[in-house]
Amino acid sequence: MTAQLSKKSEAWSARFSEPVSDLVKRYTASVFFDKRLAEFDIQGSLAHADMLAEQNIISRQDLQDIQRGMAQIQSEIAAGQFEWLLDLEDVHLNIEKRLTELVGDAGKRLHTGRSRNDQVATDIRLYLRHAIDDISGLLRELRLALTDLAEQHADTILPGFTHMQVAQPVTFGHHMLAYVEMFGRDAERMADCRKRVNRLPLGAAALAGTTFPIDRERVAATLGFDDVCRNSLDAVSDRDFAIEFCAAAALVMTHVSRMSEELVIWMSPRVGFIDIADRFCTGSSIMPQKKNPDVPELARGKTGRVNGHLIALLTLMKGQPLAYNKDNQEDKEPLFDTVDTVTDTLRIFADMARGITVRPDAMRAAAFQGYATATDLADYLVKKGLPFRDAHEAVAHAVRACVDRGCDLADLSLEDLRQFSSLVADDVFQVLTLEGSVAARDHVGGTAPNQVRAAIARVRAELG
Ligand code: ARG
Repeated sequence: MTAQLSKKSEAWSARFSEPVSDLVKRYTASVFFDKRLAEFDIQGSLAHADMLAEQNIISRQDLQDIQRGMAQIQSEIAAGQFEWLLDLEDVHLNIEKRLTELVGDAGKRLHTGRSRNDQVATDIRLYLRHAIDDISGLLRELRLALTDLAEQHADTILPGFTHMQVAQPVTFGHHMLAYVEMFGRDAERMADCRKRVNRLPLGAAALAGTTFPIDRERVAATLGFDDVCRNSLDAVSDRDFAIEFCAAAALVMTHVSRMSEELVIWMSPRVGFIDIADRFCTGSSIMPQKKNPDVPELARGKTGRVNGHLIALLTLMKGQPLAYNKDNQEDKEPLFDTVDTVTDTLRIFADMARGITVRPDAMRAAAFQGYATATDLADYLVKKGLPFRDAHEAVAHAVRACVDRGCDLADLSLEDLRQFSSLVADDVFQVLTLEGSVAARDHVGGTAPNQVRAAIARVRAELG
């Protein structure tokens, strides 16, 4: 559906002595992209008309005509038969003009006590509230999928890294739950942002309010808003809520991107920790052996555009005097693209999380490289009475010896180990096992398998 040029005159043209050029028309119009607000525009108009009738500003008959016309318009849009005209600039004027064609004067009375400025602000808020509810549901699905994966691998051990160097063994379940935490904070941010999205600008009219005896609370209640915007100038010009949403969305994508980076590394044959189901991967047009993790790579890449949209909106607002300025029309494309990108990404990731195959043997083999239990040996010596710094030093010598011999700490004999500290006894070997290492980190937030299971139970209770 593309908007078409027509010779029909614009809604505000009586004031003007010459028409705008086609290029200016295209430049100033928003119908190409804001027509996706149509369903919310109609919802807002119906709530406004209902209030106008209730307040005796328009007649009951007008209200019925408007309702009938809007129902017809809704079905035309749904059937793809609605004719969007570039000449009518935006979604609001296109719908109002068609309404007037269908029902006559009642259509012309709809705009009483209202401006496109408070109308568009209302539409975007309705749209964004809907998008936030979708995204919150998808974050929940992703968290559930990652929690299921964590449960399957509560005991699977892989090396944990700092500086990308082997640090200490961790459980894969614990690793997955780190992302469950991140996406949990994202869900909280979305819920918090929704509170400020869910206020009604309508009634602010162009900027100063209206001379008609409107009932803003009634419109707010009809549309499910928690409250009305308290200042008309702020109501028409505020886009904080869109910026907040984009900031929260940028963090969602940042978390997705971090996870993607890990998935890509883990799927590299050099690492081989996981495999990702074929339906999320593609091949190469030249190298027949390739199976590329395109989805995580693209998600990592798309994080850039979402970050860009956040900066675009911040920059859009920084120089605007009160109240509405046409600049604000530029809020839509970044916002729409942010919603689309985050929504699609989360939907795919919730599905892909269930298409990850873990290779516990490869993880385990990697955990045996890099002296991952060195800290456990130091902690062991501390528990036998050595001050931590001395224990650290003693183990550093032991590691050095292993490096020279090309073996692991657990490969050293009791005699060898006692050369580094006479406090070592034969109970040392259980401390040096991977299982002993993870099981010992047994407190809230630790990597021990039973803590992972407890954390899973907490997440499931929270998600209901
Ligand atoms: N298309 C405009 C927008 O997206 C609607 C509001 C226009 N208001 C105006 N006075 N020109 O912001």
